[in-house]
Amino acid sequence: MQQVNSYVHEKIAMDAVLNDTIFQSFKRDNNFRSILEHVSYEQGIEYISYIKQLIAENTLENLAWNKYVENDIYGNTIKFNYANQLNDIQNIDITTISPSTLRYICFGLQIYNYIKQIGKKEISIIEVGGGYGGQCKVLFDICSQFGVNIKTYTLIDLESMSKLQQKYLTKLNVKNIVTLSNVECLNKLVDTYDLFISNYALGEFTTDVQNFYIKNILNRCTNYFITWNSPPINSNLKVVNKKEEIPQTGHAQFPNIILTN
Ligand SMILES: C[S@@+](CC[C@H](N)C(=O)[O-])C[C@H]1O[C@@H](n2cnc3c(N)ncnc32)[C@H](O)[C@@H]1O
Repeated sequence: MQQVNSYVHEKIAMDAVLNDTIFQSFKRDNNFRSILEHVSYEQGIEYISYIKQLIAENTLENLAWNKYVENDIYGNTIKFNYANQLNDIQNIDITTISPSTLRYICFGLQIYNYIKQIGKKEISIIEVGGGYGGQCKVLFDICSQFGVNIKTYTLIDLESMSKLQQKYLTKLNVKNIVTLSNVECLNKLVDTYDLFISNYALGEFTTDVQNFYIKNILNRCTNYFITWNSPPINSNLKVVNKKEEIPQTGHAQFPNIILTN
């Protein structure tokens, strides 16, 4: 059993679960923004630039942008006009987008590339610390566009966030999701998963909580994609590949690192 810490975004998460009016604007709450909605306008431009590079390098044509930006429908996120940066992109009707959604698109493409690299056409995914579920939504859209079937997508988070993920992803009609709270997850897991994801999450937990997830969850996954944002990297994690995050949103001295195997 994990130690239960309390976090500033838990109250607004639970309020948004219980109250539809609050759900309509939970992404504006200052406590929520400090943890989950703090990507800047300028970083949004850098994400677009890296998305374009990924499109060119991997011949990813006609991305389903209109699907991805559905991530901005709920929660009243802060959006910016990126029309100038997106004017050479096909298949996009809305160019006023949340920079956080641009980040999820950018990571979604990188994770999809990784799934392609490990040769999976059908995959079970488990994500620890997935926020309100934005990465899950966008990765689903990318995978379904490129013919990868996500058989199950399990999200583990604090109880209030877990409930918010369930509400958010159900409203956006994302299928095959299982949302589990950190305290009850162990009894409800299956024996193996194909891919473990944790971006800006696992690395932020206390060492005890990191060890809990490495021992009980990561060890039952064949592959992993982790963005580690709080050095040092846990010594129990068998790191195979390390790559600096692009664009780098971490500290110059302690850059964020993407870990895969
Ligand atoms: C900085 S956010 C990262 C969110 C998301 N991965 C993203 O890329 O936007 C950290 C996440 O870890 C979650 N979290 C905090 N403690 C946790 C725990 N003990 N177990 C699982 N998730 C936890 C938070 O609720 C939040 O969803």
